[in-house]
Amino acid sequence: MNEKTRTLCSLLCFFSVILVSISQSNGQDLALACGASEPSSDPDKKKWEPDTKFLKTPNTDHATATYQDPSLLSTIPYMTARIFTAPATYEIPVKGDKRHLLRLHFYPSEYTGLNIDDSYFSVAANDITLLSNFSAAITCQALTQAYLVREYSLAPTLKDALTITFTPSDKHPKAFAFINGIEVVEMPELFDTAVLVGFTDQTADAKSANLQTMFRLNVGGQDIPGSQDSGGLTRTWYNDAPYIFSAGLVFFFFF
Ligand SMILES: *[C@@H]1O[C@H](CO)[C@@H](O)[C@H](O)[C@H]1NC(C)=O
Repeated sequence: MNEKTRTLCSLLCFFSVILVSISQSNGQDLALACGASEPSSDPDKKKWEPDTKFLKTPNTDHATATYQDPSLLSTIPYMTARIFTAPATYEIPVKGDKRHLLRLHFYPSEYTGLNIDDSYFSVAANDITLLSNFSAAITCQALTQAYLVREYSLAPTLKDALTITFTPSDKHPKAFAFINGIEVVEMPELFDTAVLVGFTDQTADAKSANLQTMFRLNVGGQDIPGSQDSGGLTRTWYNDAPYIFSAGLVFFFFF
């Protein structure tokens, strides 16, 4: 997408409605509990493995949160973290011709020897910047929640590895980056070219686009945890009452 289209899409907040087809994910899904030393399972029986194997940068730190917020649904992957004081990269093997969901889990808590208010960083996946000058602490404070999950749908790159790079801000003294959990889930190609809402003569090519999930609502139904999602994509769906709109939808944001 070129700059103009991107800006336009951002301004419109691109409230395109994409019906989700029910199709099976058959790829090698991966859940990394960053900073953990042992494989583990969460209460949803999802298996999380340590991140070390996929880390291409030596000498990173790991930490354990000193406080467990009561709102955490699970201690895994939130109570352990990988800490970066310099740029660091993960390399995760994927099928290059597939679209992937990337979920980043952040728990901006107290980690020994670190002041979470110093944490400012950027995150890039396949050289696409997903987060920039990001403070998980400020974002969580604004959302009044203890942890946060960011979910992206990354277009196929034809490379057999997904690279995720964390870079501490060079504008903030003592800045560090951190991550608690990373999930990579192969997903079917759900997207196609779509007409921009309110601009019938303009289209956006969603097939080659990288998207961020904004809201995923189960219309007229209750919240659905990832373990009960159709098609094995482990997506979390929320009841639509606070948003009332139309049927079975997902809102995405182009960037
Ligand atoms: C980074 O974000 C902080 C907090 O929102 C802001 O005060 C600061 O100016 C930002 N820095 C840059 C370089 O954008």
